[in-house]
Amino acid sequence: MKNKIETLQDKIKSAHLGGGQARIDSQHKKGKLTARERIHFLMDEGSFEEIGMLVTHRNTDFGMEKEQYLGDGVITGYGTINGRLTYVFSQDFTVFGGSLSETHAEKICKVMEMAMKNGAPIIGLNDSGGARIQEGVVSLGGYADIFYRNVQASGVIPQLSAIMGPCAGGAVYSPAITDFILMVENTSYMFVTGPNVVKTVTHEEVSSEELGGATTHATKSGVTHFACANELDAISHVKKLLSYVPQNCEELPPSLPYEIADENRPALNEVLPQNVSQPYDVRDIISAVADTDSFLEVHKDYAENMVVGFARLAGRSLGIVANQPAYLAGVLDNHASVKAARFVRFCDSFNIPLLVFEDVPGFLPGTDQEWNGIITNGAKLLYAFSEATVPRITVITRKAYGGAYDVMNSKHIGADMNYAWPTAEIAVMGAKGAAEIIFKREITAAENPQDKWLEKEKMYSEIFANPYRAAERGFVDEVIEPSQTRVKLIKAFKMLENKVVNNPRKKHGNIPL
Ligand code: COA
Repeated sequence: MKNKIETLQDKIKSAHLGGGQARIDSQHKKGKLTARERIHFLMDEGSFEEIGMLVTHRNTDFGMEKEQYLGDGVITGYGTINGRLTYVFSQDFTVFGGSLSETHAEKICKVMEMAMKNGAPIIGLNDSGGARIQEGVVSLGGYADIFYRNVQASGVIPQLSAIMGPCAGGAVYSPAITDFILMVENTSYMFVTGPNVVKTVTHEEVSSEELGGATTHATKSGVTHFACANELDAISHVKKLLSYVPQNCEELPPSLPYEIADENRPALNEVLPQNVSQPYDVRDIISAVADTDSFLEVHKDYAENMVVGFARLAGRSLGIVANQPAYLAGVLDNHASVKAARFVRFCDSFNIPLLVFEDVPGFLPGTDQEWNGIITNGAKLLYAFSEATVPRITVITRKAYGGAYDVMNSKHIGADMNYAWPTAEIAVMGAKGAAEIIFKREITAAENPQDKWLEKEKMYSEIFANPYRAAERGFVDEVIEPSQTRVKLIKAFKMLENKVVNNPRKKHGNIPL
């Protein structure tokens, strides 16, 4: 018996060493943690249970049968994060560069299936040189097996991908399907083809970091939702993110205990600038309305004219979507529409109510926008809001102009409550432009066209630059003092907590992609 136990202990020791101490040292020298260290920091202490530690690859080409490492380059299992069941796979770069073999893929698929069956999130910690080159098509098949399961799991359990090293070629498509991607600055990169191929095909000279580093994907492509300063920062973001979401699509998000106190926020009465054309930071409104320090912004540095993120209101999880007047006047454009649409769909998949702050001058005009599909992209946001069945509330703080008024969670597309501040202007367009169009003849014929224009602008503004026309129609449920916003929202979301919507039966909708 003793011998047998020793054999087991030797195997465990060997598995824990991955590709060996030299490669572990090299990983540390690059400023990276090992796959096991990452799990250690991610999961609650002592909670991690490994599955498949003794798995080895089956390849016999290129003498590979002689090079075997227990676990085959990926550590898989389950444990808890803040007491809640979570599945994880963590690629071990010290074993064949974390490359994906047939068995490595099988291990990942196994935990994905367990996560789906048992209704708990799955976290992927990615650090891999891609397909195991010695295995050829078998490893490509392994990728496809994972992609397929990512799609099956989409909308069923939350899927998070933290990129902590290379992630190139086909490997990028698993994270891309998951709900959120987090990248580590300077040590991670993602691209379909690397700098060498880029140079050959397009003659562009670009570094890995510039082509697909965390900053690039956080600002230019929007591929990553979070660019994290280091691995521990990424891990802490994963934990925070999970705190807002339920375990699966059948559950409600967790809420924190909260005692209602004085929920008036007088500072909100002063938050808007006197001049309606002046910008302000919508995050000031969000932080005054949401529970203290509860806002976690997603996609912070991408399409900054739209702010999205999670927050809590009286302890309950919310998804917030807000136009950002401080950037491009909060206009809706291609990137902002897609960013918000994806976020809305995530929240709706996982029963997270939606709160919208609206101050939008319309859609951004121009050839760049039209040729890059603002029609299709704007439709994504319209579609995403319209199909969402979670409780949905809009607060119009200032401008709600044109088609953007409809798109930004209007009552017409299913919002449950629509509040407006007295500063709201709900109209087809701004008074200046409107006057110019509808009073063109009168303005041109006038002795002093400029004065006439101003007169007509004032007239249009008096009629439409307010929330009352919309309130008369019931398009706005209530005009409220800004200071009351939090109180009203707490009550309304409570009122909506048992909302049920029965949409027409269908296989699935056809969102304009
Ligand atoms: N298949 C098999 N082994 C791989 C591998 C892969 N796809 N990628 C890396 N490795 C192995 C290397 O042979 C090396 O093995 P060793 O420790 O026995 O020397 C180890 O992983 C580390 O790789 P190395 O190249 O030394 O690390 P690096 O940090 O300098 O570079 C990469 C990392 C990912 C940029 C580089 O390994 C690479 O380009 N890999 C191939 C990427 C690829 O084309 N993948 C297939 C298409 S998806």
